Amino acid sequence: MDKRELGTTGLQVTPLCVGTSPLGNFPSQYGYEVGEDQAVETVLSVLGGPLNFMDTSNNYGDGESERRIGKALAEAGGPPPGFVLATKVDPLPGSEDFSGERVRASVHESLERLGLDRLQLVHLHDPERISFEEATAPDGAVQALVDLQQEGLIEHLGVAGGPIDLMLRYLQLDVFAAVISHNRYTLVDSSAEPLIADAASRGVAFLNAAPYGGGMLVRGPQAVPNYCYQPASAQVISRVEAMQQACQRHGVPLAAAALQFSLRDERVASTIVGMSTPQRVAQTTALAEHPIPEELWSQLLELAAEGRSGVGL
Ligand SMILES: NC(=O)c1ccc[n+]([C@@H]2O[C@H](COP(=O)([O-])OP(=O)(O)OC[C@H]3O[C@@H](n4cnc5c(N)ncnc54)[C@H](OP(=O)(O)O)[C@@H]3O)[C@@H](O)[C@H]2O)c1
Repeated sequence: MDKRELGTTGLQVTPLCVGTSPLGNFPSQYGYEVGEDQAVETVLSVLGGPLNFMDTSNNYGDGESERRIGKALAEAGGPPPGFVLATKVDPLPGSEDFSGERVRASVHESLERLGLDRLQLVHLHDPERISFEEATAPDGAVQALVDLQQEGLIEHLGVAGGPIDLMLRYLQLDVFAAVISHNRYTLVDSSAEPLIADAASRGVAFLNAAPYGGGMLVRGPQAVPNYCYQPASAQVISRVEAMQQACQRHGVPLAAAALQFSLRDERVASTIVGMSTPQRVAQTTALAEHPIPEELWSQLLELAAEGRSGVGL
């Protein structure tokens, strides 16, 4: 797969990034269990495959995602050359402490679980959990990340979260080389457009997470009636059903269209797809390459346009 520049970091990443929240075992979010052996096997298949980018977080599965990745990395003898592993800082599970001190502890936990002595890319995760003022205070989360970068424990900083206006505010600080938005640049909801434009103008890498809205756009709204981990409105479900029918008429899986909606946009440095079985890498690269006729795109983009101002996430 041709790689894309990760903003101005000098890192080059595949346009597909492996998302690892499901493989941390997160039944409340995805509706199924993922055992450790399956997770480790999935990571090993990624490390030996064509994708060079993986996304995790301190709190996926209360740290289980990082632990399982660390186990696979140890078995594989470390990340392959050129592999980029990103993680995120979080409060302790069950705590609301997102202070600078907690951020430092979060980074040290991640280093230990992953078995690494430095982290290439660390995102401030879901900062909507605290106020902007708290995060940017002298003893706050952002300053702690900047200090950890200066100390050499982190190479690059990112910010990852939901509310678009808040993400725009964080980019104005000029400390983040990457931004993750989730569920807001898909066939259903494309309200991240202003953030994509802003990131492009700053040379910040835009990373688009959850192109399937957490599962609905790959398994179908009948199997997964949730969008962004919550019940979808009747309007969203009927739009997705109309997209599904248009795809069926052209013999194209809805998932191929959902994935390529993000991949075809050159401003998206990488699209983060959640996966927890070893077959997913091959399935995802096949979906990325599935031919989609222009006629289908024009029908889908018309249905997608209704999501430009968001679906109320
Ligand atoms: N705030 C943030 O920073 C933030 C928020 C959301 C997401 N993220 C990141 O982005 C990643 C992607 O988000 P997401 O995982 O929630 O949603 P997603 O990528 O939209 O969808 C993931 C779901 O789709 C399923 N899936 C993937 N490929 C499939 C295929 N070919 N056939 C059938 N099912 C398939 C996965 O199932 P299996 O588990 O069975 O493979 C999983 O249930 C996360 O894992 C995480 O790394 C970050």
